[in-house]
Amino acid sequence: MNRLTLTQLRKLKTQGEKITCLTVYDASFAALLDQAGIEILLVGDSLGMVIQGHETTLPVTVEHMIYHCQQVYRGSRNALLIVDMPFMSYATPDLALHSAARLLQEGQAQVVKLEGGNWLVETVRLLTERGIPVCAHLGLTPQSIHRLGGYRVQGRTESEANNLRHDALALQSAGAALLVLECVPGNLAAEITQSLDIPVIGIGAGSACDAQVLVLYDMLGITPGKRPSFSKDFLPETGSIITAIEAFIKAVKTGLFPGPEHTF
Ligand code: KIV
Ligand code: NA
Repeated sequence: MNRLTLTQLRKLKTQGEKITCLTVYDASFAALLDQAGIEILLVGDSLGMVIQGHETTLPVTVEHMIYHCQQVYRGSRNALLIVDMPFMSYATPDLALHSAARLLQEGQAQVVKLEGGNWLVETVRLLTERGIPVCAHLGLTPQSIHRLGGYRVQGRTESEANNLRHDALALQSAGAALLVLECVPGNLAAEITQSLDIPVIGIGAGSACDAQVLVLYDMLGITPGKRPSFSKDFLPETGSIITAIEAFIKAVKTGLFPGPEHTF
């Protein structure tokens, strides 16, 4: 297997080289992204919105994630493959172990991603001990949209920021291999990134994170409706899908994306 490993990713963090990640849901885009040199492919449950047309990610099932993960796996050879665990597929540690095993065995993912803080410590430890690497996800966690009450920046108050700092360290201690920070103020994301040994992947979290991820359809300007303010459509200035992807990679590697206009 020639895919990028978590060890290699951690080395990139140590060396201070920025890491690129995009979401992807099918073999053709996976091949394009992989050949362009994207380090991480994320089969995100955002597919519930951008592929399936739902209003939230909640209707997505483990079967859906396996189906799309298989496609992305077949289309790519080099990138690290992360798959989202869908809503309620990790509600208990045992359920999480069962769902995650399917995503690795049937979907061929290397890493599973799950959304949430302190309550997931036991689950992250269990999966990690059983040989399943976990990417944690803090800040705006779209599977909790009904509890959060809207797609808003998280960690603005001091008590919210303290919870985020604490959860990030607790998840790393439990064995998390990676952390996604979504929609948190840039200075808080910078502080958390520095406090952790594991690579931090930001989306709407400023330029200090070790890696950047965007929803593929946002960065190609084909998501229906309004594009999130932290995202950028790379297509108009480049003119083709492949050059847009190359422009994203270059902008992340040189620290030009995200700029202040994409940061909270
Ligand atoms: O589902 C998704 O696309 C994600 C990323 C935006 C981090 O979780
Ligand atoms: Na997701």
